[in-house]
Parts: sequence; C-alpha cells; structure tokens
Amino acid sequence: MTDRILILDFGSQVTQLIARRVREAGVYCEIHPFNKVTAQSLQAFGPKGLILSGGPASVLDEGAPLPPACVYESGLPILGICYGQQAICHQLGGKVEPGATREFGRAYVAISDDCALFHGAWAKGGREQVWMSHGDRVTVLPPGFRAVATSEGAPYAAIADDRRRYYAVQFHPEVVHTPHGAKLLGNFVHGVCGLAGDWTMAAFKQQAIQAVRAKVGKGRVICGLSGGVDSSVVAALIHEAVGDQLVCVFVDHGLMRQGEADQVVSVFRDRFNIKLVHRDAADLFLGKLAGMTDPEKKRKTIGALFIDVFEEEAKKAGGADFLAQGTLYPDVIESVSVIGGPSVTIKSHHNVGGLPERMNMKLVEPLRELFKDEVRALGRELGLPEEMVGRHPFPGPGLAIRIPGQEITKDKLAILRAADAIYLEEIRNAGLYDAIWQAFAVLLPVRTVGVMGDSRSYDYALALRAVTSTDGMTADFYPFDMAFLGRVANRIINEVKGINRVTFDVTSKPPGTIEWE
Ligand code: XMP
Repeated sequence: MTDRILILDFGSQVTQLIARRVREAGVYCEIHPFNKVTAQSLQAFGPKGLILSGGPASVLDEGAPLPPACVYESGLPILGICYGQQAICHQLGGKVEPGATREFGRAYVAISDDCALFHGAWAKGGREQVWMSHGDRVTVLPPGFRAVATSEGAPYAAIADDRRRYYAVQFHPEVVHTPHGAKLLGNFVHGVCGLAGDWTMAAFKQQAIQAVRAKVGKGRVICGLSGGVDSSVVAALIHEAVGDQLVCVFVDHGLMRQGEADQVVSVFRDRFNIKLVHRDAADLFLGKLAGMTDPEKKRKTIGALFIDVFEEEAKKAGGADFLAQGTLYPDVIESVSVIGGPSVTIKSHHNVGGLPERMNMKLVEPLRELFKDEVRALGRELGLPEEMVGRHPFPGPGLAIRIPGQEITKDKLAILRAADAIYLEEIRNAGLYDAIWQAFAVLLPVRTVGVMGDSRSYDYALALRAVTSTDGMTADFYPFDMAFLGRVANRIINEVKGINRVTFDVTSKPPGTIEWE
C-alpha cells in the first residue's frame, strides 16, 4: 500500500488545500470527515500520520466536533491546524479561550524556538508571514508541549511535543498567503512522519492501470468522450489498461467550440487508435432546443437527450459491462456540515448519471482519487496533447448556455464560435491561457446600433468572461489590461459578422456564477 496521510476534516473552507499541499510533497493522502474516523477505519486506511483541519466551530461550544480517542491512541504523528490545534489543546489538558483580538488574514509570527516543522524554512529569531483566521486561541499548553512561535493574537501560534510527535499551528500553512506553508507541511510528512515523497504521477499511472485491469477483467468498457480533460484522460488510461475492450462514444451535440469535435476524433481515433463511435447529433439537439430559452429547460433537455443518444450508440456498439466516468476527488470528498443545512440547486449539471442502472453497467472511475491538476499531470504522462490536457473546463451543455435567454440557432452558434476562437487565440498569444481558469465569449440577447464604415449596423453584443478559480466553486474576474481587451474587441468586431459591440464581465462568483446560465 502507498504510504499515506489521513486528514480529518472539521469543515474548514480550505481543507482541500491541505490535501493538495501534501500531495504536492509527493505523499498520497485522503480527507475523511472527523466523525467517520474509528479505530477500525484508521487501521484499514493505514496512515503514517494524521492532520486535523481547521473548522468553523468553537471547542468551547457544547457538542463541539472533536477527534475521537483513537486518534491519540494510534501513536501516529499529528499535526493540528487552527481549529485542529485548539481541539488538541482542549482534549489533552490545555486551555482554549475566546481571543481578545481576532486575527483574520495576514499576520506575522515570531519564531521563538527550533522545530521540526521549520527546517529549511524558518529559523529561531525570525519573523514570518502567515495567514490567520481565528477567534478562539490557546492560552494554556497541554503537558508535554512547548511554544515555538507566537503572534500578536496567539501566544501559541505554533507548538510542539517532539516526544509524541504532536505539532500544531494556529495559522493556515495550506494557503498561499503563508509563503512557507507548503514547506512546513512537507516537513511534517517527510521529516516527522518519515514518508519518502515518492507518490508521483508515473507511479499512480501504473497503479491505476493495474486497478482497471483487476476490476474490468475481460469485460467491455464504454466511455463517453466529451473532449474535456477528464474524459480524455479516463479514455487514454483505460485504453492503455485494456486496449480494445474499450469503446468510446463521442456524442457531438453541435454545441462544441471551434475545431473541438475534429480534435477529439483525430486524437483518439487516429493517434491513439481507440475504437471511437462519433455520432453527429447536432440536428437532433438543435431540433429539440428549437424555441427554448429557459436555462433550466435547456440544461435538462440537453442532459436527457445526451443520455438517450449515448445509450443508443452504446447499444449499437454491442453494449458493455462497465461505464467509465471521469469522477474527480473533489466530487468524492464527503463534506462535513458542522453548521448549515442542505444546499439549494443553482443549476442542473449535465452528466450521465442514471445510465449505469438503466443499462445494467458497473462504474469504473479511475480518477476518483485525483485533483484536477493531478488529472492534467496524468494526461501528460499518458501522452495526451498539451492543448487537450491544459484545456479550460467546458460545460456539458456546451455553447447552449453561452447564448443566454434566447433561442439557439446554427447562425448564432457560428457567430459565437468565431468570436470565442479569436478571444482564446489572443489569450494564448498573450501567454495568459494558463493563468486563467476559464475564458469564453457569451452571445447576448440584445442587438445594438453601431457605425461601420459609412453605414449603420444593428448587430449582436458579445460579453467576454475570464475568471480565476481553484475549483470553480468561487471565482474572480481576470484583470486584463485595457489595451488587451481593446485589441480583442477590435478583432472580433472586424472579423465576425453579426457582432458590433463587445463588453467585459467583471462579476465574481459569488454572487455571479461562472457561466451565464
Ligand atoms: P457555474 O456556472 O455554476 O460553473 O459557476 C462552475 C463550473 O462548472 C462548469 N459547468 C458545468 N460543467 N456540466 C459540466 O460538466 C454542466 O452542466 C456545467 N455547468 C457549468 C462551468 O463551466 C464552470 O467551470
């Protein structure tokens, strides 16, 4: 079994970042809800160290979420972060009190002693930037601990019990605003827990291939290809594992971007030699979408039709025992809700849920343990072209939700495709593509008056959107410089017939969403 770390989640907004940093240090880890951890589950998972995350609760509240006794009885090294530190101190005989000064955001710690967490990063006597977000603070240390760093609001900003290998910090080492935070986490997993850091994508690829072979045996696998990163990587991986037992079905709903459909066919059929069914269903989809303007109706229509067509093609191809899906780790992590209730549906996301039961297929989800950037690394390892692996996310319903509040027609799709392609080309030429999570054009349901040459124009307005994000859950608009935007607008208006005005969307998420529908 791969050496691993277990992260107990107490509901922090940034728990996933702990896992990211640990994996970047070459160590496999998983996040489990604190209340699902038992002596048996610990033994089954077999971690070499534990990390207790932050969280919104206060240990002073009645019924506060706390690590179970087996955590301390395990004899494993423990790192407590923020709430995790308070939980350790509260449970092991120290004291936590509401802080007189709440610390939020950037803060500085004074390094008062050497510590295994600090090797190669922080030295005694130094003053270092960290990111804090706490109200309560530790005021009395449990027996066995010593303070190794202090801040204005937290006398015990970092503490250590070297004998038991327990370490705890009030700040968040997992966020980038703690500049040496990744090094501190690396020191915990390598130095304290003794893990080698040999969890690489090359190693993962070999394990994943073995796992797919073991699961699938001689069975047949069907995989829906969308041209996106996740399904492309799944297809390439499964093909490497079981070759011709894999059939890919690419349902082209006619709502793809410029050149995308051709690329899918050429990469998978021609280059990888994968059995690929390419169904051009543009007329079918556009026919069903005719006259439809409501976002949820569009989404649901596309989602349902997609499943119908996929099922039809899957059956034609001879059926399968397994359906391959590009489920990623963020979809799998069970969230703990320490406070708050069920969330509302903002948008109906499009996927092939329901199909496995309908067609009596089992699921193969070889990316279940990976974050998006790890999927990209795996794609490179499998030899997928960079423009596919590094591609921005693209929604299942495609361009249909980028023609908001209006009927989808072939003409509008052609206008949008052309404008979108120019925008992305300019972004690539400016070297900005990888700094942006997602960039796209939106064809607005409004026509505006312009003057081109000596004549009056009355054409569509277009919105450009570009956001930064780490997971699509929150996002901020990308701050292009005005000269760049002006250049893009100029090109689009000159080169794309049907558009005479270009705007830029400066909405963050929340309150906006990334897509317009
Ligand atoms: P929103 O618009 O909800 O989008 O802020 C968040 C991220 O999800 C993508 N998105 C989808 N992806 N099927 C998908 O696979 C969908 O139906 C879908 N709708 C939105 C969106 O592009 C962004 O990356």
